[in-house]
Amino acid sequence: MRLNSPRMTVIYNACMKASKSLIRDFGEIEKLQVSAKGPADFVTTADKRTEKIIIEELLKAHPDYGILSEEIGEINKENKDHRWIIDPIDGTLNFLNGIPHFAISVGYEEKGEIVCGLIFDPIKNETFFAEKGSGAFFNNSRIRVSKKNKLKNSILVTGGPKFNSSKKNDIFQEYIKISNLVDAPVRKFGSAALGMSYVAAGRFDAYWEWELNYWDIAAGIVILKEAGGFIEFIEPGTINSTKRNILATNSSIQDELKAALIKKNIE
Ligand code: IPD
Ligand code: CA
Ligand code: CA
Repeated sequence: MRLNSPRMTVIYNACMKASKSLIRDFGEIEKLQVSAKGPADFVTTADKRTEKIIIEELLKAHPDYGILSEEIGEINKENKDHRWIIDPIDGTLNFLNGIPHFAISVGYEEKGEIVCGLIFDPIKNETFFAEKGSGAFFNNSRIRVSKKNKLKNSILVTGGPKFNSSKKNDIFQEYIKISNLVDAPVRKFGSAALGMSYVAAGRFDAYWEWELNYWDIAAGIVILKEAGGFIEFIEPGTINSTKRNILATNSSIQDELKAALIKKNIE
């Protein structure tokens, strides 16, 4: 694994440690699927356990760094210059249903900018990581976004919108419609972090999703940028300002996709 800095190594080791129990827990899911109680509580426990291990490891290395993590919220809130941004399981619904497509995502933010990040898919044993200025990697190899420059030849990935949030809003009704109108195959795989990683690795050509949380995308931001991708945050009528609408592509199809998704249909 080509890890360039001590900070990257800290993230990697924390993820590897946490993934051991996560893999074990995933193995239990199948049995729980058929039990009367179902796996929901178990998943919450797995999520929290993964988060606890990651946080312990990160705090061991840097006790004073800030942390923003999905389940626990904030730690060392006053440290705004150095912060870890954690999603212990991105793709919980997949995990809950025994679908092997989820990831641990850890980003490191310095003075408001994500400067390194790692996304680990423990079941496929795939690691995507990047550090600002050093390129993006998949396991041991350098990755680049695809070179496709026409939407019609592309393959896209998206997610959401969530049923309980802004679906009533017109923008989101439009969004559902245009998701079906974009002239290219569109997939929904259920993990924002892996969606972004796959664009970075050239497996997909673009990813977009509305109303995401920072921890869903933090590590993905630097991985995709370092792989040559382009990320834009779209803000038409965002309901909750802490949520982010993201459009992330291989750069070449950014304008065409934006026009298809936004300009003609929403603005
Ligand atoms: C979710 C996944 C999913 C996306 C949702 C996210 P979670 O994260 O990334 O792909 O559509 O918006 O909330 O809840 O599995 O950590
Ligand atoms: Ca998430
Ligand atoms: Ca999560």
